[in-house]
Amino acid sequence: MTDTQTPQARRRTFAIISHPDAGKTTLTEKILLFGGAIQLAGEVKAKKNRVQTRSDWMGIERERGISVVTSVMTFEYDGRVFNLLDTPGHEDFSEDTYRTLTAVDSAVMVIDAAKGIEARTRKLFEVCRLRDIPIVTFINKLDREIRDPFDLLDEIEKTLALDTAPVNWPISRGKSFGGTYNLSENTVRQIDRDGPAISVSGPDDPAVLGLVPEYERDAWLEEIELARAGCRPFDLTAFREGHLTPVFFGSALRNFGVKDLIDAMGAYAPPPREQQAQTRVVKADEPKMTGFVFKIQANMDPNHRDRIAFMRVCSGKLSRGMKAKLVRTGKPMSLSAPQFFFAQDRAIADEAFAGDVVGIPNHGTLRIGDTLTEGEEIVFRGVPSFAPEIMRRIKLTDAMKAKKLREALQQMAEEGVVQLFVPQDGSAPIVGVVGALQLDVLKTRLAGEYSLPIDYETTRFSVCRWIDSDDQKELDKFINANGSALAVDLDGAPVFMASTAFSLNYEMERWPEIRFTDIKDYQ
Ligand code: G4P
Repeated sequence: MTDTQTPQARRRTFAIISHPDAGKTTLTEKILLFGGAIQLAGEVKAKKNRVQTRSDWMGIERERGISVVTSVMTFEYDGRVFNLLDTPGHEDFSEDTYRTLTAVDSAVMVIDAAKGIEARTRKLFEVCRLRDIPIVTFINKLDREIRDPFDLLDEIEKTLALDTAPVNWPISRGKSFGGTYNLSENTVRQIDRDGPAISVSGPDDPAVLGLVPEYERDAWLEEIELARAGCRPFDLTAFREGHLTPVFFGSALRNFGVKDLIDAMGAYAPPPREQQAQTRVVKADEPKMTGFVFKIQANMDPNHRDRIAFMRVCSGKLSRGMKAKLVRTGKPMSLSAPQFFFAQDRAIADEAFAGDVVGIPNHGTLRIGDTLTEGEEIVFRGVPSFAPEIMRRIKLTDAMKAKKLREALQQMAEEGVVQLFVPQDGSAPIVGVVGALQLDVLKTRLAGEYSLPIDYETTRFSVCRWIDSDDQKELDKFINANGSALAVDLDGAPVFMASTAFSLNYEMERWPEIRFTDIKDYQ
């Protein structure tokens, strides 16, 4: 049986991770163009350039010209269904990005060939590594001056502790960039020439050497020899386990190397993976529908004030109109209008399979981390909270509205806009975020949707950790000793807040029986 015969085996659900400016938007656009999901290159770009499009859901996104929302783009190519989950590119807004990565089965890592691994790429990679997500690497901007390819591969291996297997190799670079040479198949793909790659006798075939400036030829042949002898061959198992990345060189802007990349995603990237629930592992080909919510987006359509919960289907088939069980509350929920998303549009989904992401309109019933099933009592793990990097106390300008504020903050925290910490000493709630933009989003939404004008005040806390221990007595002792620095999160889990990283470390050393964690699964 081939891997395209069952609906779930045809799915490839992935995200693109990169540092801003490496070329993610350009590559997304070219990938979608390939898949026929958009007619004209430039539509994704348009969004970035602040042209009002339907995917410009929030005012803030428009004002700042950045993508605050995580959208899903579905397209078919070569018998497979690709679900590309877009991750917001801006450095500021990272929690959504992290959570999106819990819903993918693989990722494309885009690296600027002149810059190598940059800070945000590394951070996103670390999130992928938490789940051993297989990574395909695309080294971009080969049409410019680039760093030595060996150097780039070495940097990936050293900084990410990830083995590399170059699939193709650049033929010259910068102004004389001529194309790529496939190291194992002896084929050449020439820049600015469409159609299939051409088979050649070897790197010294005139069809290849003709693309290398004469004075570079000897050095280039040596480079190929070294690459073949010294680099690892591609190994599907190591890739699927997240230990090895196949590397493609190309240029998104010139639409070069993109087809090889998608073909590789189709051939090597895994179909929907099994998902760990609290009590058992759920396989994608199980007949009953299960899924989890990894993102909530409010105000997608300002005229309807709707809330969309993005759910990753983990197993079975979701049919429009089916009744699902929301495990957290035990209540049934009718999936009467699940939606699919495309680059610019959305449409009702009549059916969806494991690997797909559907939007479920609701009025606040669903929250991040929720599991939906056909009746089974299981809860998926792994939609994480990250310890915030910024903490602020909320200052309400109208004290009469304290109760309304509490309700609104609870809702915002359930949507994952911010994290909410209620100090145990009864003082005003503290919100925590990973990126400062989340504070702007909260303020704008509280004012717009709840008529609650607020300000932020700094607190004496700058870091926090979830706390836990196998020794309940020791935990109680710690909590009693640190009363004014203790809070509970949305789920009632205890959180220790410290003024500096130094004082946090000090407490960690003093209390070896207490576990201080900076990542927490939802629920
Ligand atoms: P991002 O989403 O990762 O932030 O990156 P984006 O695609 O917006 O690309 C960042 C810049 O790099 C853009 O230039 C884009 O045109 C350029 N770029 C992307 N891929 C390539 C490539 O393969 N080769 C070259 N030479 N450039 C590339 P910009 O000047 O910031 O924007 P624009 O004026 O071109 O729109």
